[in-house]
Amino acid sequence: MSKTDSEKEILANALADAQSQTLAVRAGQSRTDENEHSEALFLTSSYVFEDCADAAARFSGDVDGSVYSRYTNPTVRNFEQRLAAMEGAEDCIATSSGMGAIMSLCLAHLSAGDHIVCSSDVFGSTVTLLNNFFTKFGVEVSYVKLTDLNGWRDSIQSNTKLFFIETPSNPLSEVGDIRALSALANDHTILFAVDNCFCSPALQLPLALGADIVIHSATKYIDGQGRCLGGAVVGSAEHVEPVRNLVRAGGPSMSPFNAWVFLKGLETLHLRMKAHSDSAMAIATWLESQEAVEEVFYAGLESHPGHVLAKTQQSHFGGVLSFRVKGGQAAAWRFIEATQVISLTANLGDAKSTIVHPATTTHSRLSPEARATAGITDNLIRVAVGLESLDDLLIDLQRGIATL
Ligand SMILES: Cc1ncc(COP(=O)(O)O)c(C=O)c1O
Repeated sequence: MSKTDSEKEILANALADAQSQTLAVRAGQSRTDENEHSEALFLTSSYVFEDCADAAARFSGDVDGSVYSRYTNPTVRNFEQRLAAMEGAEDCIATSSGMGAIMSLCLAHLSAGDHIVCSSDVFGSTVTLLNNFFTKFGVEVSYVKLTDLNGWRDSIQSNTKLFFIETPSNPLSEVGDIRALSALANDHTILFAVDNCFCSPALQLPLALGADIVIHSATKYIDGQGRCLGGAVVGSAEHVEPVRNLVRAGGPSMSPFNAWVFLKGLETLHLRMKAHSDSAMAIATWLESQEAVEEVFYAGLESHPGHVLAKTQQSHFGGVLSFRVKGGQAAAWRFIEATQVISLTANLGDAKSTIVHPATTTHSRLSPEARATAGITDNLIRVAVGLESLDDLLIDLQRGIATL
């Protein structure tokens, strides 16, 4: 056994019962012969073979070893193993973006004639992907409100193969009942996938609540500083293997550089998620007390319909909140443009707080009826609370309030 292998084994044994915060820092690292402390970045697209027999053996799979970075890359594998450990999963396949993860999951697990049931309040590009592309290949899609359990039951057809949700949802923080939907999916042999991007494994573990697959946009909290695009599909080896084969053949692989950034991001994830959540809770409470604010959506608030359920499946409530101001689009735009510290940009999960007007940006491609059904009104504003001082963020939001 090489030194690296024995080190790996010792670490794996030590981490067998480790808590998520330790796994976030330690899981998945494989040191090279240099014995570097921080994870190595293998910025290479291919690997040199010892000789032709070695090349043939690696290509055939008779011998382990990297061939080409679309198939395997040690830095990407470190990231996959660390995220899998944190989600309590057997395996993970990293992808080039969160949408790459969703596309790869669907391509790998669905065939023409299959049916997906998706919650109506998922990320806009997920709806575009399913409606504009998967339907071209004969996949049927139905949408059900995340919280309408009877609706999910009624939507099941003989060809239903996949339930897909995000919880909490974007931007209204609706909370889906992962346990109940898992039980329903399981009764009908339907694969159940949860997009865990808003909570990350630091706050919510969907697999432990019964889901089959976890999806990530690593672009958000896993990076945590708004630098790189990436995604992941996490679950049992049986569920991940078809997606890995799809990614290898189709090519939406994660770049090694991005994997290295995400590995470093995971190390601080728990601390950051707690800080995002604490500030978001304080801001949501403050907004609720403002005369010019009509309604605040944050599952941490007792007034939120999903509060009690969220407490049973999340350890904190995350960094994203939204609110309706009194007035219409003009009032919302005035509020947003008055902020000076918070950035007007559509990303979330960044150390830098962001603010956006969903109706004219992230959800602008929905029809007015679909927007109305999803509760995306013209006076709705979304804030992804970052890691700046809470006092400074409140001063900045007060600038917005002063315009109303
Ligand atoms: C909940 C959710 N899932 C998936 C995605 C897509 O991720 P990416 O932008 O990395 O493709 C996003 C992006 O905002 C998102 O918010």
